[in-house]
Amino acid sequence: MTVAPDAPILFFDSGVGGLSILAPARAALPTARIVYAADSAGFPYGTKSEAEIAARVPALLGRLVERYRPRLAVIACNTASTIALQHVRAALDIPVVGTVPAIKPAALLSKSRVFGVLGTDATVRQPYVDRLAAEHGADCIVLRHGSAALVQLAEAKLRGEPLDPQVARDALHGLIDQPGGDRMDMVVLACTHFPLVEQELAAAAPHPMGFVHGGEGIARRIQYLTQGQPWPDAPAPGIAVFTRVDEKQEALRPALASYGLDRIDAL
Ligand code: DGL
Repeated sequence: MTVAPDAPILFFDSGVGGLSILAPARAALPTARIVYAADSAGFPYGTKSEAEIAARVPALLGRLVERYRPRLAVIACNTASTIALQHVRAALDIPVVGTVPAIKPAALLSKSRVFGVLGTDATVRQPYVDRLAAEHGADCIVLRHGSAALVQLAEAKLRGEPLDPQVARDALHGLIDQPGGDRMDMVVLACTHFPLVEQELAAAAPHPMGFVHGGEGIARRIQYLTQGQPWPDAPAPGIAVFTRVDEKQEALRPALASYGLDRIDAL
C-alpha cells in the first residue's frame, strides 16, 4: 500500500492522557502530521463497564479513520487497549498500536521486588494485567490501585487549573497502604493521564520510587511500523478532534498548542 507523506498518525484517548504518548512519538517523528482524538463525550472511561468500552471504542475509531485516513492508529489509552484492542484491530484495515501497562520494565527495575500498578479501576481489574504480572513479575508483589481522581487531576492540570496535592497523595497511598506497600520502589503509570502528573506524584511520594510508562516503547513501535514511508518535509500543524466541544476543551487550547495541535475539530 502506498502512503501519502501527509497521511497522519491518529492518536486516540478518552481525554488528554494520550498526549503523554504523543509527545515521545512526535520527538521521534517531528514532521509527522498528527490527529489527536479524544472522546470527551464518553470521558471518563475508567469508571465504565467493559461492555460500554468495547461497544464505543471500535465504532469511534471507524469514524475517525474514515474522516482522517491515517496511516496508523494508536490507542493511547490503557483502559481502551486492555479491553478493546482486538475489536479495534478487527474493525480497521490499518496497523493499530495499543498501550498496555509497563509491567515488564517495572519488574526488571524493581530491587525490592514490590511494585505498584496505578491505573483506572477498569484497567487494574483486567485479566490482561493478571497475565502480564504472572509473566514478568512472578517473583514480585504486584500491588494495584485504580484512581479516577488522578485522571481528573491531569485534565485540570492541562486546563491550567489549581491542583489539590492531596489527590496524588491519596492515589499513591492506595498502593502503599496495602500489605508490602511500604517496600514498593516502582510504580507503573498504567493510565496515559498519569505521566502528565508524574511531578505531582513524585512530590507526594513518602519515600523515593521510580515511575515507568509505555510512551518511549510506543514511539519505537510506530517508527518500526512506518519505516520506509514518506513524511512531510517540514512539521505540519496538528489537529485535536473531540466528540464534544465545550468550554473544557476551549480551556485546553494552550496545552494542545504546546503539543503542536493548533486546530480543534468536533467529531
Ligand atoms: N487515559 C485513559 C487510560 O489510559 C483513561 C482515563 C479515563 O478516561 O478514565 O486508561
